[in-house]
Amino acid sequence: MKLANRLAAVKPSPTLSLNAKARALAAQGKDVLSFAAGEPDFDTPAHIKDAIKASLDAGFTKYTATGGIPELKAAIVEKLKRDNALSFAPEQVVVTVGGKQALYNAFQALLSPGDEVIIFSPYWVSYPDMVRLAHGVPVIVETRAETNWTPDPAALRRALTPRTKAVIFNSPSNPTGALIAREALAALAHELRDSEAVLITDDIYERLLYVPGPFVNVANAAPELADRTLVVNGFSKAFSMTGLRLGYAAGPKALIAGMQMIQDQSTSNAASVIQKGAVAALTGPTTAVDEMVKAFARRREAMTGGLNRIPGVSCRLPDGAFYCFPDVSGLLGKRYKGTVIDGSMKLSEILLDDFLLAAVPGAPFGAEGFIRLSFATSDANIEKGLARFADCAAQLS
Ligand SMILES: Cc1ncc(COP(=O)(O)O)c(C=O)c1O
Repeated sequence: MKLANRLAAVKPSPTLSLNAKARALAAQGKDVLSFAAGEPDFDTPAHIKDAIKASLDAGFTKYTATGGIPELKAAIVEKLKRDNALSFAPEQVVVTVGGKQALYNAFQALLSPGDEVIIFSPYWVSYPDMVRLAHGVPVIVETRAETNWTPDPAALRRALTPRTKAVIFNSPSNPTGALIAREALAALAHELRDSEAVLITDDIYERLLYVPGPFVNVANAAPELADRTLVVNGFSKAFSMTGLRLGYAAGPKALIAGMQMIQDQSTSNAASVIQKGAVAALTGPTTAVDEMVKAFARRREAMTGGLNRIPGVSCRLPDGAFYCFPDVSGLLGKRYKGTVIDGSMKLSEILLDDFLLAAVPGAPFGAEGFIRLSFATSDANIEKGLARFADCAAQLS
């Protein structure tokens, strides 16, 4: 069967396929340790599940407005004011099927063929492909570990063209865990003052922060550009609701209306009962989330410390999210059972196949020489996994 040309421009998500391979090995009874997942290992907080169950029992199972129930939009408006000092009207908010759909719809609504989107690398694997699916052109601007992955304003300036439609900020970042400081965000935004680019701030890891706050996004750092900033956020990471698929975007009225139009003709509303759960998430107690963040903070130290003890590996302490992103270039070029490890992809393959450890190669994130390990797994698993990684490193020659 001849499928659409647009499929040729995109690749399957490497994280999802790696997880699928790890699950298949586990199903064969193998003791696989997965550091590949992009989701918290904690249960969804009880008050959120209770709200979902209660709304289900109350028969809240019909279509809702495409852009979300008024109660949830009001809670999001309030959250953006309380946590982010940003002011939006309810019609500037759209509730989506995960943060992913918010981003997807934003590109569909914004881009005409050939329009460019600036993406800092290392980047979340889905950004470039989502841009391509909207017939846009991803323009990659590299950042470096030595500067804690902070983008260089001059590099951003060089990448800008009259076709630049958007620039994506993701801090704390997947995959690096790095935070971009307020001053750096302001300097980057300054470069965009004469363009018409939309600033997209993907704040999905906002709550998972291990350095002193408060969390600052580009709209806070450059208030003069706040009226062309699209804030994307969701419930997956902060509230451990990955499978429940709920996110949102807030931004310029016309863009939000365009995104809602795309959603009208694709998925319609996000699941009714999950929207009720999201209201509980935003208005209820924060104890469970605080406990989760505390556990992540402890594990981040354990994992970073353990990685730095492996010869050939060096890792910065991540500021946020739940990923360590070590430099493994000291292991590349070595041999394992006669095979040269010619890149992060090969290293990940060996780690999974022979040491039953799933870690995502850096190459698909635009960062060859690195791998991503999630510390959203138990302390015991981290200890065991690090021992397997060290064992692998020791067997290279
Ligand atoms: C940087 C980033 N943005 C957005 C998302 C989307 O998350 P969700 O669609 O589950 O809300 C993810 C998930 O992995 C992510 O890592």
